[in-house]
Amino acid sequence: MKEEALKRKDQIEAPRGKLGILIPGLGGAVSTTFIAGVELVRRGMAEPIGSLTQLGSIRLGKRYEHRNPKIRDFVPLTSIDDLVFGGWDIYDANAYDAAFHARVLRREHLEPIKDFLSGIHPMRAAFDRNFVRNLDGTYIKEEKGLRARVEAIREDIRRFKEENGLDRCIVIWCGSTEVYQKPGEIHQSMEAFQKAIDEDNPEIPPSMLYALAALESGVPFINGAPNLTIDIPAMVDLATKNNIPIAGKDFKTGQTLMKTILAPGLKSRLLGLEGWYSTNILGNRDGLVLDDKDSFKTKEESKLSVLEYILQPQLYPSLYKNYYHKVTINYYPPRGDNKEGWDCIDIFGWLGYPMQIKVDFQCRDSILAAPLVLDLALFTDFANRIGMGGIQEWLSFYFKSPMHKENLYPEHDLFIQLMKLKNTLRYLMGEDQITHFGLDYYMEKN
Ligand SMILES: NC(=O)c1ccc[n+]([C@@H]2O[C@H](COP(=O)([O-])OP(=O)(O)OC[C@H]3O[C@@H](n4cnc5c(N)ncnc54)[C@H](O)[C@@H]3O)[C@@H](O)[C@H]2O)c1
Repeated sequence: MKEEALKRKDQIEAPRGKLGILIPGLGGAVSTTFIAGVELVRRGMAEPIGSLTQLGSIRLGKRYEHRNPKIRDFVPLTSIDDLVFGGWDIYDANAYDAAFHARVLRREHLEPIKDFLSGIHPMRAAFDRNFVRNLDGTYIKEEKGLRARVEAIREDIRRFKEENGLDRCIVIWCGSTEVYQKPGEIHQSMEAFQKAIDEDNPEIPPSMLYALAALESGVPFINGAPNLTIDIPAMVDLATKNNIPIAGKDFKTGQTLMKTILAPGLKSRLLGLEGWYSTNILGNRDGLVLDDKDSFKTKEESKLSVLEYILQPQLYPSLYKNYYHKVTINYYPPRGDNKEGWDCIDIFGWLGYPMQIKVDFQCRDSILAAPLVLDLALFTDFANRIGMGGIQEWLSFYFKSPMHKENLYPEHDLFIQLMKLKNTLRYLMGEDQITHFGLDYYMEKN
């Protein structure tokens, strides 16, 4: 993207009309918790807790100016009143039945919006059990061959837009985690990828079919799971060439969120790390899918990398060169969506004396993920409206494995990620970036 193609300040128009949010995995725990939450907020029955776009503020100018608008008043984002929901799933259940089955939200939150949720039906999914072995849904597209399925998804997007009178849409993958895959030859260029689609190459998972259909329809694609999906040169090139935003991957919630809060703190005080043992129990459908070792491997890769990048052992070998890092997830049905994550962190300080930190996070997975879906949808649509296509690295804040340019390393520190996001908004809206420069104090009245 060339800078002159990017709209800034007065060139940025207020959004017009409604925004469609299309979700592969519409019947899942995250999707239904997100949709139900948005509707409850719209009806004034809940607060959008956890959402930066709805509750967050942003400091502008010097501290003595006391300018702290809400982000949604500063940046022309689509209002949540203008969101329309749709998507695909391998089970034919409307959003009310699916939310009920997911057992995240209580009756008191579902019953008042039963009419609304019951009206949201999934479209038939593009599914291949080779990529999600522990599910056996039958509500799947009948088209044979990968090309025919891409075309069917494109047609779904077109019809959804037409039926709802939409100009703008985004697609956000909240589907199950697919089995682990490394990028191969066919993922290196769009030409090779398109050829592989025509040849029904078995290395192309369903998530890539949705992504291709979205990008070919001019629709941004966000990946909430750790699957490769858009994180391959072919997709990045297509998105960059057509100036369509893509963002991923794997929502940063639960244990990894904690890790990227704690690790920057330990490193900033130069406390050493001997080991970090993380284990989880989880009983929802996501837990069932991750019980398959190849789906877990995809998740494991995503979860393991964060410490390495935050701690920078190459710069601090005596502190971080040899720490032991282990992550496990165990499927334990009684716990449902209420995951419990334990961390046992062995650190050392002055003269090498050892200390321990124990974290027991009794979290609710989808409650943490739902506001991220909302923020990502609104920010990605904003990026699309101002002509900011390709990888949205400024949205790393939301992801366990942020996508990044080939020659850069990913930024995992939550606080740097937040600063990057807010400074990006300041720049786009024509405000000074905030650097927290320490000499202002001596140079001018503060
Ligand atoms: N905090 C979190 O909950 C969190 C955090 C990070 C990432 N994620 C990821 O988000 C995804 C959703 O999580 P969840 O807890 O809602 O899982 P879930 O199992 O409740 O929902 C996933 C849904 O995807 C559907 N699905 C599977 N393959 C599909 C396909 N090819 N097309 C359309 N639908 C398909 C399933 O039927 C299911 O309804 C998972 O990949 C998970 O790893 C979740």
